[in-house]
Amino acid sequence: MALIKKFRIKSFKEKGALLKLEKISMFYNKRQILNNLNLEINKQEILGMLGPNGVGKSTIFHIITGLKDPSYGRVLINNFDCTNIPIYERATRFKIGYVPQYGGFIQDLNLQENLNLVGEIHINDKVERKAKIEKLISQFEFDPLLKIKSKYLSGGQKKKLVISMALINDPSILLLDEPFAALDILTIKMLQEIIVNLQSMQKITVIVCDHQARDLLSCVDRAIVLSDGKIIASGSPDEIIKDSTARSAYFGDEFKIN
Ligand SMILES: Nc1ncnc2c1ncn2[C@@H]1O[C@H](COP(=O)(O)OP(=O)(O)OP(=O)(O)O)[C@@H](O)[C@H]1O
Ligand SMILES: [Mg+2]
Repeated sequence: MALIKKFRIKSFKEKGALLKLEKISMFYNKRQILNNLNLEINKQEILGMLGPNGVGKSTIFHIITGLKDPSYGRVLINNFDCTNIPIYERATRFKIGYVPQYGGFIQDLNLQENLNLVGEIHINDKVERKAKIEKLISQFEFDPLLKIKSKYLSGGQKKKLVISMALINDPSILLLDEPFAALDILTIKMLQEIIVNLQSMQKITVIVCDHQARDLLSCVDRAIVLSDGKIIASGSPDEIIKDSTARSAYFGDEFKIN
């Protein structure tokens, strides 16, 4: 496995779930997508979420951000029931940062304008806002792209823009829905390092889902595998790839990380 995360947190000094999904069920019309799902994520944990197409990973992110209401169950942040708290308040008061699977920026604004827009929503102080945006521009090497209308950016550039927009807020919980899709190898490495640094320097909690399982497993503390609306396996990357249920539902027989 590419060694991005040098050590994995197995038990937390500060125990206690920052984010809790409690008995979540989700139906679309009569079709059940999530079935009585329970999940606890510790403060400062990086959790990887894996599962086949259509299993409900993006739906889980939508339920956490407030974009969708679960049919049953509760979302708790720091033991506070957020289930009925609107999206905007979850982003500002509970500092949820979200990188959606698709979109997440305004097509007709250029890259700089998209950053300014989110900056103005989250940071009142002009000097602080400018400094934060400039730091992100340098970190993501956006200088040559600033004036390009975002719809004309390449797939990977768009993804990087949305990731940088999610970081403006200094989120406490960062949700990344397929962040590695469309990124080149070096950019994936940069993003993995950003995720791990955010965890150690800013004590941020991250949930990431991606089908690039090797890239995902090299930067998480724990991973879960979803199947048929439930979590069927949970453990460290080494544990999860050896888990026979996870292998038959998701990884297949051939999957290795070395
Ligand atoms: N608004 C909706 N109306 C009806 N069905 C929906 C709706 N949104 C999602 N679904 C269904 O819910 C299921 C879960 O979708 P979701 O997008 O969460 O899957 P996913 O695990 O993120 O998949 P992928 O890996 O392909 O991104 C899918 O079967 C999808 O068709
Ligand atoms: Mg999805």
